[in-house]
Amino acid sequence: MKALILSGGAGTRLRPITHTSAKQLIPIANKPILFYGIEFIRDAGITDIGIIVGETKEEIKDAVSDGSKWGIKVTYIEQDAPLGLAHAVKISQDFIREEPFVMFLGDNIIKGGIKTFVERFKSDQPNALILLTEVENPQQFGVAELNNGKILRLIEKPKDPKSNLALVGVYLFDKNIFEAVNKISPSRRNELEITDAIQYLLEQDYTVNPYIITGWWKDTGRLEDMLDANRLILDTREQQINGFVDNDSKIIGKVVIEEGTIIKNSTIRGPSIIGRDTQVINSYIGPYTSIYFGTKIINSEIEHSIVLENCIISDISFRIEDSLIGKNVTVVKSLAKPKAYRFMLGDYSNVGIL
Ligand code: DAU
Repeated sequence: MKALILSGGAGTRLRPITHTSAKQLIPIANKPILFYGIEFIRDAGITDIGIIVGETKEEIKDAVSDGSKWGIKVTYIEQDAPLGLAHAVKISQDFIREEPFVMFLGDNIIKGGIKTFVERFKSDQPNALILLTEVENPQQFGVAELNNGKILRLIEKPKDPKSNLALVGVYLFDKNIFEAVNKISPSRRNELEITDAIQYLLEQDYTVNPYIITGWWKDTGRLEDMLDANRLILDTREQQINGFVDNDSKIIGKVVIEEGTIIKNSTIRGPSIIGRDTQVINSYIGPYTSIYFGTKIINSEIEHSIVLENCIISDISFRIEDSLIGKNVTVVKSLAKPKAYRFMLGDYSNVGIL
C-alpha cells in the first residue's frame, strides 16, 4: 500500500502567514502539521509516500527531505496549480500505479492516527473507504447522506446540507479512483473535487464504505481550528523542563520547556510549550500557548496562541490571546513621539486593538 499527502494549495484562510509560508508547516504544539500526517502514515506501516507540492514546494522539500528521518521514502509530485483534490490524485497515477493507497490532506490532524482505518480497508477490501464525523458547520465540508449505514450521496460544501456528517481528510482508495477522477468535471469553484469522484464511484456501483469516527479531528485551514488543534495536542503532553527556570518563576501544570530556554521572574501555566532558545522575562505565558523557538517575551502576557520562530514581544500592556504570530515578528511598545500605533502589516493581516 502507498500513501499520498496533499501539501499544495493556497491557504487563503490563513493569510498573511501563507503569503510567505506553507500552511502545512505551521507548528501545532511545536511540530509542523505535515509531520503529524507523515507519522500517522508511517505508524500505519506505509513507507512509500508521495507528497503533492505546489507553490511552496521548496519549503516543504527542505523540511521533509527524502523522508529518511522517519524511515520512509518520499516522492514529490508537483502540481502546477491547486486545481482540486481529485486533480492531485490524477497527476499521481504514475506514482501510485495499480496499488491501493491512503490519501491524507496535509492540513488535517486526527486523534489516534490512521492505523485502524488502514486495517479496516485491508480487511473489508471495498473500492473506497471514507471517514465521516459530525460537525456543527457542514456547509464548510464535503457532506455525506447516509441511509441504514450506507452512503446515498456526497456533496461538496452544500448550501443546504442534508446531514451534519462531514468528510474527514483521510480517504482510502483502490485503483478504480483513477477512472473516477478522469470522468468528473470541474466544480463551481473550478476544482476537480474528490467528493465528486467518490460520488461517481457510488453511481457506478463501486463499493464505498463509510467509517464514522468519534475521536477528534481537525482541518486546520482556519485560525480557530489551528488553535483548537494546538489545545488538544498540548493537553496530551506531560511536564518536561529542559531549560533554565530561575527561583522567581512559577511553572504550573503540563509545561514543556526546551533546551537553551531561559525563564526569569515569570509564570508559565500549562498546558503550554516554550521551544528552544527562547527567553521569557517578567512575563506570563498562559494555557494553550506554543512558542516555537528563538523568541523573546519580555514584560508581556500571552495565552491561547501560537508564536512562530524568532519573534520579539515586549512591554505589551494587555494580554495577547487567540493569536497566530508569524516568523520574525516584532510586537513592542513604542516610546517614540508623537504617541501613535505604528504598523507594518502584510496583506490580509488581522489586528485587534484595545
Ligand atoms: O478537511 C476536510 C475537507 O477537505 C473535506 O470535508 C472536503 O470535502 C474536501 O474538499 C477538503 O476541503 P477543503 O476546502 O478544506 O480543502 P483544501 O482546499 O483546504 O485542501 C486540503 C489540502 O489539500 C490542503 O493541505 C491543501 C491541499 N491541496 C488542495 C488543493 C485544492 C492540494 O495539495 N492541491 C489542491 O489542488
